[in-house]
Amino acid sequence: MSDKKTSNQMWGGRFAAGPSAIMEAINASIGFDRKLYAQDIRGSLAHARMLAETGIISAEDQNKISECLNTILSEIEAGKFTFKPELEDIHMNVEARLAELIGTAAGRLHTARSRNDQVALDFRLWVKDALERTASALAMLIETLLDRAEEHASSVMPGFTHLQSAQPVTFGHHMMAYVEMFGRDLWRVRDAIDRMDESPLGAAALAGTSFPIDRAMTAKELGFREPTRNSIDTVSDRDFALEFLSVAAICGTHLSRLAEEIVIWSTPQFGFVRLSDSFSTGSSIMPQKKNPDAAELIRAKTGRINGDLVALLTVMKGLPLAYSKDMQEDKEAVFDASETLDLMLAAMAGMVGDMEVNKPAMKKAAGAGFATATDLADWLVRVAGLPFREAHHVSGRAVALAEQTRRSLDKLTLEEYREIHSAITEEVFSVLSVASSVKSRTSYGGTAPSEVRRQIRYWRKRLKRGARPANLR
Ligand code: ARG
Repeated sequence: MSDKKTSNQMWGGRFAAGPSAIMEAINASIGFDRKLYAQDIRGSLAHARMLAETGIISAEDQNKISECLNTILSEIEAGKFTFKPELEDIHMNVEARLAELIGTAAGRLHTARSRNDQVALDFRLWVKDALERTASALAMLIETLLDRAEEHASSVMPGFTHLQSAQPVTFGHHMMAYVEMFGRDLWRVRDAIDRMDESPLGAAALAGTSFPIDRAMTAKELGFREPTRNSIDTVSDRDFALEFLSVAAICGTHLSRLAEEIVIWSTPQFGFVRLSDSFSTGSSIMPQKKNPDAAELIRAKTGRINGDLVALLTVMKGLPLAYSKDMQEDKEAVFDASETLDLMLAAMAGMVGDMEVNKPAMKKAAGAGFATATDLADWLVRVAGLPFREAHHVSGRAVALAEQTRRSLDKLTLEEYREIHSAITEEVFSVLSVASSVKSRTSYGGTAPSEVRRQIRYWRKRLKRGARPANLR
């Protein structure tokens, strides 16, 4: 258990022996935080420039440092860099290599900085980039949904509540419901980026520094709006990661709902959609089967993202200020959620873009279950002046008769209708078909094709501006 190693190069001064193998295994993060190499080097380049600019280090040292940081970047990108677990993390791996290349000048880079603000910076930069990737993937999915909605703005399908046929809607309207959801996700992504757009660099270990650093300068150079204000909060804050995971979990939830609908729609019993071969698989034993695996996996992977969110919430809960090593556990959850979510978004866009929509099957189902019973009641209110409660009752009697005689509401005769209520005229038939029901729902946000087309135009414009509503920015 106590296999002795040489003491750590960075902080080993007061340790007689190196950490045991187990200590090294639990302590090292290089296995996963090497993903932060580009952000780490970007941060160090900005820090070195600022140190020279403010006279804290010489221009000569800065030049050496910057040049070699770029060399290290190329080494890592070319796969020629040896990551060492005994150097714990990406920060010390890069710094140790710098020392190998330029000797003592390398030691000046860490002036007025700590790994605590360094890791907060690197991770924030990484999460910002990840959110931009997610934003592009979301925009692509939304555009795919808009295209399908436009194509099917007037294709009728049953609208459901309790997964029971409720009222006819259009497939375009249903697709636009998801555009609203993913539109809110994209808006949340933009908001999250705004909130995390503050530079942690210069908070140092937790208390700031006595060196005359210029935090505004590094903030600007690294593309942040401004520096963070409280050094204690800065090194202990992981809200940006939690917010990323929350946004991802909500978006995953939306994806899982659409995935579930696709699973249902693609069953032979529903037959509303047929998935393309590229987004489905066959069964090794049952030749007739075409399985919606991509949809099922999207549905399932949402669970992983939720797990990632709960994992980090649990790590952060009850942590005293400021930095604790617990926080090193922040990264894997975020890396996993980011990779998972982007794959889910891409798979969903591909699947929705490719799927064949079966208009006749949807139309047939839309007429089933007396889906226009509400239209009949509405007509009795509007034209015959009945109170809605009475109209609801009259319509219910028509449904009972249609059910007994196995016909749809538009197949009952005028005489039969007049027996149910004397105020009913020939005109009632204009609202009993599925197509006229859908066409009549022209209220703002309703399912009428004209209204759905208006929603599509609205979102195409809004997407071009980013995802926020026009009156917000
Ligand atoms: N690898 C560490 C992390 O990810 C870097 C910060 C270490 N700071 C410290 N005081 N030990 O959190």
